Amino acid sequence: MNLPADTKSVLNDIKKRSESTPRSMPPSFYKDENMLPVEVEQLFINGWVCLGRADEIPNIGDYYTIDMFDEPLIVSRTKKSQISVLSNVCRHRGSQILTGKGNSKRFTCPYHRWSYDLEGKLLAAPLVDKSEGFDRNQCKLPSFRTHEWWGWIFVNLSGKADDFESQIVGLDDYVRNYHAEEMRSIGASTEQWPLNWKCLAENFMEGYHLTPVHRDTLHPMTPTRLCEKIPAGIGYTGYKSHYSQSFKGRTQTHPDMTAEECSLSMMVWIYPGFVAAISPNSAVYMSITPTGPASLQTRWDVIAREAVFEADEAQERLEFARAFNKEDRERLLDVQRGLASRFATRGFLAPPDYEGTVWDFYHYMADRLP
Ligand code: FES
Ligand SMILES: [Fe+2]
Repeated sequence: MNLPADTKSVLNDIKKRSESTPRSMPPSFYKDENMLPVEVEQLFINGWVCLGRADEIPNIGDYYTIDMFDEPLIVSRTKKSQISVLSNVCRHRGSQILTGKGNSKRFTCPYHRWSYDLEGKLLAAPLVDKSEGFDRNQCKLPSFRTHEWWGWIFVNLSGKADDFESQIVGLDDYVRNYHAEEMRSIGASTEQWPLNWKCLAENFMEGYHLTPVHRDTLHPMTPTRLCEKIPAGIGYTGYKSHYSQSFKGRTQTHPDMTAEECSLSMMVWIYPGFVAAISPNSAVYMSITPTGPASLQTRWDVIAREAVFEADEAQERLEFARAFNKEDRERLLDVQRGLASRFATRGFLAPPDYEGTVWDFYHYMADRLP
């Protein structure tokens, strides 16, 4: 599958262009149908995709199901400190095995009651297991490479991605002291937005729109003028969203945190589709995946330190995130409409502290796409 000619030439242009003259991508980058299969295979299936949080499945046997790129998956805790991601497709005749979430010692297919252990090994296949030539070893559920990063569960579906750690060299220095692994989910949800996935990821990760779009929500806390980009790595970019002097929230910090860390939200983008705003006592994150040229799925959540739950502030945090997500959604639907125009074109990007993360992302795309 070929990329649209103008996208290809622009990706080449981006490799050569200096950081001081950044430009946005042409509309074809966000709407051409030929982009989608290339992105899905090269970036998502061959990369690392976040499925949720380890704290959503705290006990052995806890599981939840999720679909990614039409792949039904089971995310479960097999041991105290081990999480597995299995194909949720029965090895008998292809039924989906589980739905929703729950806790179980074994996963039993509702169609003919084949059952599997937590590692995906076939335990029983009624009436078939005594048949001549039956080989239960050929009936194990496929399992996928996983990596846990500060409590977030990542999966690589093709088995071909470079090691997760090699993609994020340097990033932990900015994130470590927030101890996001100690935070827990307030309430994950999955939404479909009629929008190209890149528009949402870019929007989440640039501070240029904070003041104009989030005038009454985020601006009083993290105004555009206080954004400060960090250097990008192979598989990530990010910026520090410093708090305004007058903002007095986010007090339930971790003792490891420096004074600077206590006064900013760390904005992190692990390519292709994981974005997070990690604040001293909570974090908002989204795992964004494409479902079509103009449609995306986002599994998103707010996670928080125990003290936030104890102070009865957890629901408030979730509502706050819903409010600014709504503001973003309205603007982004306008963007999607605008990109359809025959007069839409490449634009001038703001300086690195405000839109440099978007520019970093284009470089990642230029390196990864054929
Ligand atoms: S399809 Fe699952 S037991 Fe038959
Ligand atoms: Fe926003």
